[in-house]
Amino acid sequence: MSEQIKNLFSSISPTYDGLNHLLSLNTDRRWRKRTIGQISFSKERPVAALDLCAGTLDLSLEFLRQYPAGKVWAVDFSHDMLKHGLTKVRAHSPNEGPLRGSAPLQKRIHAICADGLQMPFPTEFFDVVFCGFGFRNFDDQTAALKEIHRVLKPDGQLLILEFFRPTNSLTRIFHNTYGNFILPLIGGLISGRKEAYRYLHRSIADFYSLEECKKLFEHAGFTIANAKNFSMGVCSLIVGKKPPLGV
Ligand SMILES: C[S@@+](CC[C@H](N)C(=O)[O-])C[C@H]1O[C@@H](n2cnc3c(N)ncnc32)[C@H](O)[C@@H]1O
Repeated sequence: MSEQIKNLFSSISPTYDGLNHLLSLNTDRRWRKRTIGQISFSKERPVAALDLCAGTLDLSLEFLRQYPAGKVWAVDFSHDMLKHGLTKVRAHSPNEGPLRGSAPLQKRIHAICADGLQMPFPTEFFDVVFCGFGFRNFDDQTAALKEIHRVLKPDGQLLILEFFRPTNSLTRIFHNTYGNFILPLIGGLISGRKEAYRYLHRSIADFYSLEECKKLFEHAGFTIANAKNFSMGVCSLIVGKKPPLGV
């Protein structure tokens, strides 16, 4: 299954960013900005972040924008997705514009092609882990949370931005209409991979709801610090915390 997912994302990687912005009418940029805005560490601190299922690095870049002293390790098992992301990193001149930081951009981001279920990091390495629209692609969410818990420091934060299975009937109607017709039509036309966009919709319908996912967090040893809907529940963010030592 994971091999199929990897091939699917590699196949849509050339048009992934453009379609994301088009299909969300650019709202995805705001969702990412608000997600990173929920990190509670001081912006002056050299926060070590993991962007899990980093894809084309949009969340990583947003993190570096908001945390000028921060560093990010971006993990994805699709080499092609990361390659497209790194082109965007190179397009930014070091220490210029809104991505100005304490070190050149290329030194603040490490792209690593690896499976998120078995990451090449020591235990308790990261202050914060975020994952944008990738969590539902894991074969096993409980195993993913266990691995995230391992690499996160005590008192660290976990942020999952995701399209959860809608439970409210209005949001369900919106998701079904959009996912069954608009997503495969426009996604298929532009990427040439209609089936990939059908899968993306099915993966939402088969996924956990926000409430179910909060319970998974708690079972994995996280406390829920916050959970919020964006754009009237089109997608949602769960913020979890790994308890500090001794708790
Ligand atoms: C929908 S994209 C999200 C990309 C990016 N985070 C964003 O916000 O646009 C999901 C990404 O998760 C990656 N992915 C899925 N399962 C994975 C796994 N087990 N390990 C590493 N990456 C995975 C895919 O290759 C894909 O790039």
